[in-house]
Amino acid sequence: METSQLLLLLCVWALSSLSLQSAEMIEHCPDRILDNEKRRTCPKKCQQDNDCGNKRQCLCDGPCGLSCVAPGRTCPWPLPSSEHFDVTLLSPSPSFSALLEVRCHPGYTMTNGLNATIHRCQGDRQWSGDDPLCTGRNAETEPESKLACPLPDHDLLLIHGSAAIGSTIQYQCAPGYVLVGSSENFCHKDQMWRYPHPVCQRVFCPPPQEINHGYLVAVQKSEYNMGDTIYYLCKKNFLLDGPNQVTCQLDGTWSTVPSCRARCPIPAQRSRVIVGGVKSWPYDLTDGMVTHGENVTFFCKHPQKSCSFTATETCFDGLLPAPNCYREPTWFQYKLYPHRLVSEINPCDPADLDSTSE
Ligand SMILES: *[C@@H]1O[C@H](CO)[C@@H](O)[C@H](O)[C@H]1NC(C)=O
Ligand SMILES: *[C@@H]1O[C@H](CO)[C@@H](O)[C@H](O)[C@H]1NC(C)=O
Repeated sequence: METSQLLLLLCVWALSSLSLQSAEMIEHCPDRILDNEKRRTCPKKCQQDNDCGNKRQCLCDGPCGLSCVAPGRTCPWPLPSSEHFDVTLLSPSPSFSALLEVRCHPGYTMTNGLNATIHRCQGDRQWSGDDPLCTGRNAETEPESKLACPLPDHDLLLIHGSAAIGSTIQYQCAPGYVLVGSSENFCHKDQMWRYPHPVCQRVFCPPPQEINHGYLVAVQKSEYNMGDTIYYLCKKNFLLDGPNQVTCQLDGTWSTVPSCRARCPIPAQRSRVIVGGVKSWPYDLTDGMVTHGENVTFFCKHPQKSCSFTATETCFDGLLPAPNCYREPTWFQYKLYPHRLVSEINPCDPADLDSTSE
């Protein structure tokens, strides 16, 4: 095996382990916002597990965003029993991100007019939201609370606001899901919503595009989650044009896919050219080629005088045209009069060039 092949393999291996790790980590998490939350403090902010020391992990902690939490720690459980509501743990254990449902007994509602709420076990080992309180149908303090519109029962659909008659609610989908339908609703007097409830659809990307002359460094899957990152590499002698990675975006599409651009053969043999600021014979350049995006300056002869001027062309994906003024010297000129080749004679005076353009 050639050394270059071995290097490429090593490189592929390094990148693929990187992409696996980041795919799990970059799972979408809202930025830290702290309204309507009981707590005032959030755990330490982070981007990745390495930011958190060895006992903690970088996990999504609701409105706190990505935070350092110890996933094994638990929230208080069981909760003290109550006369007016039942509490059910919806997750196998009351540990970080577990969900708990508080449901009012028949005839009782919460102050926002709802029957039930869901609380989440936060990184600070407290359940999210306010302490549950269910009040009776005949409670005179909350006469409007018993008249509310029915709420959808869907884990992915998060609801803000009140369902009471005359109130407005806003919907939001869990991270990685997109809301289809109206994001706001209004509860009419007849306990009917103005619009149907929206639904949450999972966001995923199809497998990313293959690119010519390049490789995808990824585990093959039929669909990818939002935030997944995949790397591209180009085959030998091709230059990556664009970002070396693509990310599955919020709308289920991939970010801009790069291209692998070919080298260009130099359309001159018996004349020196300027590449990268150096005047060279084309056969002295690697394979007589230049990389994509490189400028090549050719020498052209003044139509009347015995002097040269230059014209520059840029290599684009395998194509490098010779400028119109360039003439390839004949084999005889090259062999017998090498010092008289256009690339070797004196450059024209700027004044001479002004007269040619007139
Ligand atoms: C409240 O709960 C009862 C059953 O416990 C159910 O029939 C009713 O639809 C619920 N109301 C709302 C607004 O969820
Ligand atoms: C090539 O020339 C163009 C202008 O003629 C310049 O903008 C570009 O930066 C040059 N490219 C390189 C690789 O030097």
